[in-house]
Amino acid sequence: MNLIESTTYHNLARAYSSECQAMVRYKFIEYGARYNKLNVLAETIDRIVYNEFNHARILYTKIQDASDEQIDNIEIEQGVPFREKWDLKENLRLAALDEEKEVTVYKSFAKTAQKEGFNEIAELFTQLARIEDKHRKTFSELYEQMNADSMYKKDKPVKWKCTACGYESFDGAAFDKCPVCQAEQGQVALVLKNPV
Ligand SMILES: [Fe+2]
Ligand SMILES: [Fe+2]
Repeated sequence: MNLIESTTYHNLARAYSSECQAMVRYKFIEYGARYNKLNVLAETIDRIVYNEFNHARILYTKIQDASDEQIDNIEIEQGVPFREKWDLKENLRLAALDEEKEVTVYKSFAKTAQKEGFNEIAELFTQLARIEDKHRKTFSELYEQMNADSMYKKDKPVKWKCTACGYESFDGAAFDKCPVCQAEQGQVALVLKNPV
């Protein structure tokens, strides 16, 4: 089957569009984190944004490779989610749900690609589903920590590290201000089971 005539071709365009949208929505979250002076949280989100950018880039390239001719436009039907508002905690929860949906969608795209005989693209969608599931776990954990007010406060003492100067402490809560470089708490490394 020719890729241009396949459902997979349109799925590549749908996936590309989803990645672009996710990238911007997560950038909104990163903006919110910076606004709240949670610099390390912002950097964590930014790494996910960069992952989505690269997913978009890879999908774009796959579409480009489908033809020697210029591809002017691909018509697709797709919903555009607008759930997120300017609430950092709620947006983290919604981002985890977005990722959960992406996992399901990419798994079904992989199946279709397999059926249509595009094994390499099927493998790409399978890998993307795995990555989005990792993103889902990270967003969930960030949401849970923020919801339980445990991002910088734990039940037991843990190691806290200032990402600005490298100072470390072992305590139940992260220092408000780094005693060495005066960086604020938002500069302290997050303690995550699912880092990105
Ligand atoms: Fe992605
Ligand atoms: Fe993702």
